[in-house]
Amino acid sequence: MGTSVRFWNRIAERYAKQPIADEDAYQHKLDKVRDCLNADHKVLEFGCGTGSTALLLAPGAGDYKAIDVSPKMIEIAQRKLASNPIDNLSFEISALEDFQAEKQSFDMILGMSILHLLEDPQAAISRVFELLKPGGIFVSSTACLGDNMGWFRYVGPVGSFLGLIPEVRVFSRADLQNSLKGAGFDIEYQFVPEGKSIACFLVARRPLANTKCR
Ligand SMILES: C[S@@+](CC[C@H](N)C(=O)[O-])C[C@H]1O[C@@H](n2cnc3c(N)ncnc32)[C@H](O)[C@@H]1O
Repeated sequence: MGTSVRFWNRIAERYAKQPIADEDAYQHKLDKVRDCLNADHKVLEFGCGTGSTALLLAPGAGDYKAIDVSPKMIEIAQRKLASNPIDNLSFEISALEDFQAEKQSFDMILGMSILHLLEDPQAAISRVFELLKPGGIFVSSTACLGDNMGWFRYVGPVGSFLGLIPEVRVFSRADLQNSLKGAGFDIEYQFVPEGKSIACFLVARRPLANTKCR
């Protein structure tokens, strides 16, 4: 088992009890997703954690699959689903990198608070692009530490070596946007909550036709 899985398993119960840091910003993000969501949409959420967002959004989708690499996180998500059954929602233990699905099979993919935690965010973005149908939407919320907390790239590794925090990649909002555009996405909406928030919420679309030059 990798260190990331061990970390998330260890903190899963505590994570489940944590209140949402900025309730207004969270509701705004949910509203934006709902604006794009249809009752026949096939949705994938990766890094779903304890499933809170999936439980709120799945009723507006056709089919909603939520995956997470941590068995403990998924155990908690399954528990919540058992006490609040939603027919079109299923949880599965899987890393995004190992997830098996047909190319171009999802209308919407969500990655909330996860891209900065992945070993290779660019590869993940390309995989998401591949899994989306043309016209499909990628919704992400990502900690972009490079803008105001570049120093984190020096202290972060100490914290993760001590097992206090997960490994975090440090990049800026511009870096993230360039990664999305480089993979072929059009960015349709950006929201950075006011104050000292480091989170960048983006709605990006896989264009209907492949307009990239060879
Ligand atoms: C910060 S939590 C975010 C959870 C949830 N999306 C939220 O917004 O509350 C990050 C989650 O990503 C999961 N995770 C980390 N690496 C992953 C990967 N490669 N594939 C899928 N899930 C992963 C962790 O187990 C953890 O549950």
